[in-house]
Amino acid sequence: MDRIRIVGGNTLNGTIPISGAKNAALPLMIASLLTPETLTLKNVPNLADVNLLARILRNHGVDLAVDGKRPGGGGGAGETFHLTAREIVDTRAPYELVSRMRASFWVLGPLLARCGEACVSLPGGCAIGTRPVDFHLDGLRALGAEIDIDAGYVNARAPRGGLVGNRIAFEKVSVGATHNVLMAAVLANGETVLENAACEPEVGDLADCLRAMGAKIDGIGTSTLTIQGVSGLEAARHTVVPDRIETGTFAMAVAAAGGDVLLEGAKGEHLSAALDVLRQCGVTINETNRGIQVSRKDADLKPIEVETQPFPGFPTDLQAQLMALMTIAAGTSVIRETIFENRFMHVQELARLGADITLNGDTATINGKPGLTGAQVMATDLRASVSLAIGGLIADGETTISRVYHLDRGFERIEEKLGNCGAEIERIAA
Ligand code: EPZ
Repeated sequence: MDRIRIVGGNTLNGTIPISGAKNAALPLMIASLLTPETLTLKNVPNLADVNLLARILRNHGVDLAVDGKRPGGGGGAGETFHLTAREIVDTRAPYELVSRMRASFWVLGPLLARCGEACVSLPGGCAIGTRPVDFHLDGLRALGAEIDIDAGYVNARAPRGGLVGNRIAFEKVSVGATHNVLMAAVLANGETVLENAACEPEVGDLADCLRAMGAKIDGIGTSTLTIQGVSGLEAARHTVVPDRIETGTFAMAVAAAGGDVLLEGAKGEHLSAALDVLRQCGVTINETNRGIQVSRKDADLKPIEVETQPFPGFPTDLQAQLMALMTIAAGTSVIRETIFENRFMHVQELARLGADITLNGDTATINGKPGLTGAQVMATDLRASVSLAIGGLIADGETTISRVYHLDRGFERIEEKLGNCGAEIERIAA
């Protein structure tokens, strides 16, 4: 297994191109199941999760052609995927594949809507909480699906005339349930209203793409989506939104290490809560038409109190990175995680670098120190692993991160992007 080695202490200066968003690319690729025509997606990031989903979709009969492969992708370059699901050859998504990536469970809604049936393994994914799928199943049942769970598989069947629109109020905001039920509803008979829907930019990106494919959706960007079902969708072209979590991560890396970096192609409006937090900490942020300029020179970092929330609140996917940053703030910070109950696995690894963090239920108290010290650490999930990279950039001496396959799931060429800005970072192949 590859490792990442970082020697801390360098400031970051230059430009980092922001890639297309993993969490938008995945549902967009899945949307190709809804039409026999070709869906062309531009700015797709080259990531392990994207490649795994491509394998899953091929199993269902999706033909995938890739062009625009450029080693220096990102910042609007990325890869272009042409996905054609002319015929769905298999409506079963097996355990071996779905258990490796939670987002692949979202094939359920589109397969059910297009083929009238689907058999999808219960999902896996990062071990950050129990992560049930009850909202997905309740939503699809409300559209008329008959669903049972047997031997770890969800068996779903639509009524004879197809799914039927309905009013669905999600109990709690769920990005995945919104994606899944939205993709089913676009081909259902009649009107569906999704209340308390997720408003994350990735949901908006999927809805925009579905609209380009001929779906009728109102309320994009709000918590109420109104969908008039159509009988079929068509070919479309769509560009994946820039990755707001990658953007926020590099912004925090610059804040931690010091320096001045342009996050090229980043969209500030998708990240306002996190940028506000960084400003409160004393980081200088300027939004320009080329992206977001982040700098911190000699100013101390101020401590903060933050809790994670669904969009537009502070994202759970940046909680670990913010915690790494707060380990060197001048004072005590408090971070409360309200979305996932087990998303603190980075705490004990940051402690190996000398961080002073106390956990009490869903709340972490971080006593900032003047610096960290390099050590061997282990990645436990995607965002936790990148928080260790931020820790390594600050730490005195050498930090080695093992299990970097977690990092490869969601960060494209991270060692190159940080290395180009002056970080001493390298991948050590197994
Ligand atoms: C998406 O996961 C993202 N994944 C996650 O990013 C992100 O952390 C999360 O949304 C929250 O923003 C992708 O987009 C691929 P949820 P998802 O359903 O859809 C509970 C990353 O690092 N819930 O919005 O799985 C759930 O347990 C990943 O890129 C139910 O109770 O998250 C959680 O407490 C990690 N029942 C809350 O809702 C359900 O049926 C929000 O989860 C569904 C969810």
